[in-house]
Amino acid sequence: MKAVTITTYGPVADVVTLADVPAPAVGPRDVLIEARAAGVNPIDHLIVKGFMQPEGLDRTRVLGNEVAGVVAAVGAEVTAFAVGDEVFARVDPRVGAAFAEFVAVDASLVAAKPAAMSFEEAASLPLVALTAWQALTEQSRLKAGQRVLIHGGAGGVGAAAIQIAKHLGAEVVTTVSTDSVDLVRSLGADQVVDYRNEKFDELVAPVDVVLDTVGGDTQDRSFPLLKPGGTLVSIVFVPDAEAKQARWGVEAKAFFMRPDGAQLARIADLVASGELRPVVRTVLPLERAVDALTEVERGRARGRTVLAVSS
Ligand SMILES: NC(=O)c1ccc[n+]([C@@H]2O[C@H](COP(=O)([O-])OP(=O)(O)OC[C@H]3O[C@@H](n4cnc5c(N)ncnc54)[C@H](OP(=O)(O)O)[C@@H]3O)[C@@H](O)[C@H]2O)c1
Repeated sequence: MKAVTITTYGPVADVVTLADVPAPAVGPRDVLIEARAAGVNPIDHLIVKGFMQPEGLDRTRVLGNEVAGVVAAVGAEVTAFAVGDEVFARVDPRVGAAFAEFVAVDASLVAAKPAAMSFEEAASLPLVALTAWQALTEQSRLKAGQRVLIHGGAGGVGAAAIQIAKHLGAEVVTTVSTDSVDLVRSLGADQVVDYRNEKFDELVAPVDVVLDTVGGDTQDRSFPLLKPGGTLVSIVFVPDAEAKQARWGVEAKAFFMRPDGAQLARIADLVASGELRPVVRTVLPLERAVDALTEVERGRARGRTVLAVSS
């Protein structure tokens, strides 16, 4: 089968190639998905460059972390899915291998794709929507009536987080650059700060929760905005929790998202009810994975980048 691979770590344009590789084995708890589309995330270009991979690469590695497609086979123990079902998943990060014609995924990580959602839209959601869901419902326990500041509202995680926070009944403040103001308003943001022309720390009234998708100075300048007892949850940079608790009386934490098919099914329900709209900006064929990864690497996202897979 065709797959986007690396055999060594390095710059995207130097090491990423489309290759012919064996189709994955299907374990007893696996669903084999014939892929129609795969979402491209910052983690994909970071993996290409060897981020958090202390050992060298001693095999061909198939890239990719999320997929949408049609079930082509199921393992002997799988009862929740059948051949022909339309599904999507954030794959096991230890396995990856979503930029391929066939993807084997543990059934517990898979959810049914809502019929009204295209494969491209479905492939754009699992990683970012699960991250946003876990940040807001598990890490910060955002409640109806609370205020949340979401940095990077036009990015993949930010756009999902705005909509999930509105679903939870929160008031949403977000930071974006000028080009993205209309987009995030259309997603439901109540207050939008153009971070290139305005200082968010001078404009935002106290919030209960900050979702930090940017890190650095943006994270530092967010702490004074938190109400006492508030929570900053970062997906990019681990804050010094003790120091922040002592200085500001707030909780500060970072986390890595986890794949979860049951949560993804709840996210599918939000899409089906119109509360969560996938924002896909660019669809490129699998053959143009280098271009897709390069676009995501620029970090100027206004909607997701997706690879279309045709066998
Ligand atoms: N811990 C986890 O489990 C986890 C999960 C998913 C993602 N992540 C990480 O989280 C980060 C965001 O992921 P993503 O998928 O949302 O990325 P993305 O789709 O590339 O979006 C990044 C966004 O950040 C915005 N941005 C850049 N600088 C900013 C600033 N100073 N203030 C406000 N916005 C700014 C960019 O908008 P402009 O072009 O308008 O500036 C862009 O829309 C990445 O570093 C990713 O690796 C971590």
